[in-house]
Amino acid sequence: MTRNVVITGATSGIGAALALRYAAPGIVLGLIGRNVERLRRIADDARQRGAIVVTGRVDVRDRATMQSWLHDFDRDHPIDLVVANAGVMEGTPPGCAIEPPDAAYDLMQTNVLGAMNTIQPVLDGMMKRARGQIAIVSSIAAFIPLADSPSYCASKSAVLSYGLSLRALLVARGIRVNVICPGYIETPMMGRENGPKPFKVSAERAADLIAAGLDRDKAVISFPVFFAWVTWLNGILPDGLRRRLSRSFRFTVSHRD
Ligand SMILES: NC(=O)c1ccc[n+]([C@@H]2O[C@H](COP(=O)([O-])OP(=O)(O)OC[C@H]3O[C@@H](n4cnc5c(N)ncnc54)[C@H](OP(=O)(O)O)[C@@H]3O)[C@@H](O)[C@H]2O)c1
Repeated sequence: MTRNVVITGATSGIGAALALRYAAPGIVLGLIGRNVERLRRIADDARQRGAIVVTGRVDVRDRATMQSWLHDFDRDHPIDLVVANAGVMEGTPPGCAIEPPDAAYDLMQTNVLGAMNTIQPVLDGMMKRARGQIAIVSSIAAFIPLADSPSYCASKSAVLSYGLSLRALLVARGIRVNVICPGYIETPMMGRENGPKPFKVSAERAADLIAAGLDRDKAVISFPVFFAWVTWLNGILPDGLRRRLSRSFRFTVSHRD
């Protein structure tokens, strides 16, 4: 049976690893990103593995274009799984006091509105068919307020809450919604962060864990499990204690190319 899967942010890191994890005969992949060269390369690799691939050079912040691309794809290939993965990370640059305000606003547009722009256009089709799965890539940062990346933590908390609210609403309509909260994954995004990165895992391992969690319809797919628990517990500590423990967990974020 054919399975139609859309992934945003498929040109790099977790999105690219997921695209190749799903690429196989019988799979139609819709891959979205902005970098044409990297999009072409991932699409070629996925085709080599037997998938049919449709690419979209779309900025997830562009609501109208996202809607039109997703509606066109869904008409030709009714979407079984959409992964709202595209995202950016910002934080305090080396030698600065706080994250750059323009970058923080841009981040919210990409991480929060970009995820909504990916999900809203597919809802009608999935509701009519009474089936489908929506996966949103949040982060372990959703559980814990980090002094050096306020907008990133806020954006990931927002999509965690958005996803779990949709899950509660859509379960009765036959639609599964899952939120993915990874720890540190070896990707170009993580490469910009200068600081401790405990328990980091490869993008390929992350893709395997995400696919397994989606198959099991886990509400929140968070890994590595021990780190996820520690982070979650840290997030619910009294404010003073949490801030004291977080002192050894400071970092800077280098400029994005
Ligand atoms: N790496 C980690 O440690 C980690 C941990 C937890 C959660 N996450 C989350 O995982 C997701 C993927 O991150 P990653 O680590 O794989 O980062 P990455 O290697 O930097 O990849 C980010 C992807 O997002 C795409 N993207 C960014 N802005 C976009 C926009 N406006 N429109 C369309 N695509 C856009 C990029 O594509 P183009 O450049 O081609 O546009 C790229 O494919 C993000 O949501 C991130 O927050 C990452």
